Amino acid sequence: MEFDFATPVERRHPQGGDASHWPSQKWHRYGGEVLPLWVADMDFVSPPAVLEALRARVDHGVFGYGLVPDSLRETLCAWSAEHYGWAIEPDWQLWLPGVVPALHLASLALTEPGDGVLTLTPIYPPFLRVAERTGREPQQAPMRSPARPGEPWRLDLEALAAAITPRTRLLLWCQPHNPTGRVWSREELAGLAELVERHDLLVVSDELHCDLLLDEGARHRPLAATFPALASRILTLWAPSKTFNLAGLTTACAVIPDPGLRRRFARGIKGLTPDGNVLGLVAAEAAYAQGDPWRRALLAVLRGHRHSLTERVARWPGVAMSPPESTYLAWLDLREAPALQGGASPCRALLERAGVALSDGADFGWPGFARLNFGTTATQLEAALARLDGVLAA
Ligand SMILES: Cc1ncc(COP(=O)(O)O)c(C=O)c1O
Repeated sequence: MEFDFATPVERRHPQGGDASHWPSQKWHRYGGEVLPLWVADMDFVSPPAVLEALRARVDHGVFGYGLVPDSLRETLCAWSAEHYGWAIEPDWQLWLPGVVPALHLASLALTEPGDGVLTLTPIYPPFLRVAERTGREPQQAPMRSPARPGEPWRLDLEALAAAITPRTRLLLWCQPHNPTGRVWSREELAGLAELVERHDLLVVSDELHCDLLLDEGARHRPLAATFPALASRILTLWAPSKTFNLAGLTTACAVIPDPGLRRRFARGIKGLTPDGNVLGLVAAEAAYAQGDPWRRALLAVLRGHRHSLTERVARWPGVAMSPPESTYLAWLDLREAPALQGGASPCRALLERAGVALSDGADFGWPGFARLNFGTTATQLEAALARLDGVLAA
């Protein structure tokens, strides 16, 4: 089946309004003529099967409090078994209104005030605020940046071990990693697992981007499945939101194999979150049950975009990028770009001078870097890269 990843969809709300156009954060934050390659949402229409299921649900017409259907639980079990060889159970799943809420809820439910909550940097910005927002102690460890341009970012186990204190209780882990797109190797994960056990830590493993592996040989290894001895310490977060472009339907799932941990988490979050989003649950089931051909077609498009971007970056003096092994996000090192020296942050300079909005690395804990979202049509990506060329290739 053919899917359309080429036709740009209008995501700006035009002046004067028009009921067929819906405003989006991505296209509205900067407005005007700026081309937005920042927030992690794609400019693609979701899979046809998802749209069809949503239409049927809307036709039902009643939107009172829903229940998580058994069929959704079974569908996620099947997806997990097929793609990751992990036999999860229906009752391990707690469906929630988003991954970021789940990070905060885990901190509240599984740690005590003053406990240390540890994360790597650079990292998707909400990770950096969970500890403070929940009255815990923020702890951070830097990743190892590439020794040479183009080499992968790596886990720095020594830095991670050095950041652990007797107060450290919870690790907020991200795999595949946002913003570098890194798919951790088995060796890196084994080192991590050893640290987790030695320091008696709990782990929230945000595996939101796991269905978007770009490297042919890359393999996602769910942390809890790879190290069964640690499964009682791990809460895995999955969602259809990045894979199938459904973030606005606020639906995610915490997979918790250990009954004790599951009870603790469920008890700790009671009353703090809304019940499931009835449309989001329907979309999730359709996506996992019928969306795989669309996902595979998407991956081919994203691989092409990654290639175009890699070629372009090679022409920009002083800009380095390790091609992401996963996700539609690229992490650019702009610190040495002669065109961006002095003045505002490189990201702000590109916004002002090229009219392209990237995500500022400072928000990820690494100033001088920027994250670029290439989950858009070839036309829009090409237009944005041409603008960046105008500043960076000079
Ligand atoms: C690693 C990671 N976690 C969480 C989120 C946000 O998830 P949600 O919209 O379900 O809160 C994102 C969004 O980009 C992300 O990249």
